[in-house]
Parts: sequence; structure tokens; C-alpha cells
Amino acid sequence: MGNQFADDVLAGDGFRLTPLGSADIEDVTSACRDEVTQRWLPLPSPYTSDVARAFVEEIAPRMHASGAGLVRRIEVAGRLCGVIDLKATDWRVRATEIGYWVAPWARGHGLAGKASRVLADWALSTQGMARVVICCATGNVASQKAAVSAGFSHEGRARSAGIVHAGRVDLEVFSKLSSDLDAP
Ligand SMILES: CC(C)(COP(=O)(O)OP(=O)(O)OC[C@H]1O[C@@H](n2cnc3c(N)ncnc32)[C@H](O)[C@@H]1OP(=O)(O)O)[C@@H](O)C(=O)NCCC(=O)NCCS
Repeated sequence: MGNQFADDVLAGDGFRLTPLGSADIEDVTSACRDEVTQRWLPLPSPYTSDVARAFVEEIAPRMHASGAGLVRRIEVAGRLCGVIDLKATDWRVRATEIGYWVAPWARGHGLAGKASRVLADWALSTQGMARVVICCATGNVASQKAAVSAGFSHEGRARSAGIVHAGRVDLEVFSKLSSDLDAP
């Protein structure tokens, strides 16, 4: 435990959280071109395979090496079904934030909530984190449901705190604390 997350593979019920690799570039490209992904995440548009390659081969490793976070692919039966990450980590405050998308071919099974529970509980119980947040645009109901299903509590609304391609949005802030893990 220090100022960098362990480079662990995490296991959930029917999925694993594993490191991204160059073989994922094609799936990342098509998932990040998806209309719903583009609606709620301020990703580059058009999202090209070069953008995906830079994310997989440069940005994700840098996030880990710098201590800023950790990027994992959500893998079901060997296939990439989404990406989840820890980001904006503050090691002094021991706080971090989860972000995610689920690929269009894997939506509808609650994967984001299940993966968030595994990643948050790991960060809180083994990586020294005291607080994990998930921030969702006010209109992004599916993401808010994922946060709740992962055992996060709604704290409130941060006004004009986020951006999507359509403009500024309010963010619903959800949190899970290390002390929540001990709650019945
Ligand atoms: C948010 C996202 C990750 C959820 O994917 P998922 O884990 O497959 O979620 P599901 O499709 O199983 O839906 C989760 C819940 O939201 C509900 N839901 C799904 N789409 C919805 C919609 N458009 N409006 C309202 N509710 C919706 C589901 O019915 C389900 O409800 P339940 O928990 O009561 O069963 C996925 O929609 C996605 O990748 N969106 C684009 C990227 C994104 O928004 N990332 C998060 C940014 S904060």
C-alpha cells in the first residue's frame, strides 16, 4: 500500500477485471463510438482506433504509474465487455473515483454495478482508500442505478460539475466509505 494501486486481476461473479491489452483496441473503438457512450462520456469524437490505441497503450499505463488510478477491462467469457477505472485519486485524502462504460453488446445485465462493487470494495479494503465516489450526469439514470446497486449512497448534486458533448451537466454524487463495508 502506497501511492499506487496494485496491478491486480479481480474476480467477480461471472466476470473478471483484467488489464487492457493491444488486442482490446478494436472492441474499445467500437464501444466508444456507440451513441449512448458518446452521449454520457466526453470522449473524443470521432473515436478512432488511434484514440483507442493511445488509451490502451499510453494513457492507461500512465494512470497506473503516476498513481492517478487503475484501468481494468470488464471481461466476460474472455471478451471485453466494458472498461472500469479508478481515477483522480488523492492519496493524502485517500479518496478516489470510479468511472465506467459497458459495451453495447453486454448491457442489460447490471455489469457496471457488479464491477463497481468489486473494484470499490477492493480499493476500500486492500488499497488504503477511505472513500470512493461515482459521479453521474443527472439524466444518466442507468449509471445512477449502477451506483446504487454497487452499494453506493447518494450524497447530492454537484451543480454544473460535468461536461458531455451537449454541454455542461449537473452531477449526482454517490459515495462508498470504508466504514460502509462493516455496516450490516
Ligand atoms: C451506464 C452503463 C454502464 C450501465 O450499463 P449496465 O451495467 O449494462 O446497466 P443495465 O443496462 O443493466 O442497467 C442498469 C439499470 O438501469 C436501468 N436502465 C438501463 N437503461 C436505462 C435508461 N435509459 N433509463 C432508465 N433506466 C435504465 C436498467 O433497467 C437497470 O435497472 P435495474 O437495476 O432496476 O434492473 C451503460 O449504460 C453505459 O455504458 N452507458 C454509457 C457510458 C456511461 O454512461 N458511463 C457512466 C458515466 S457516469
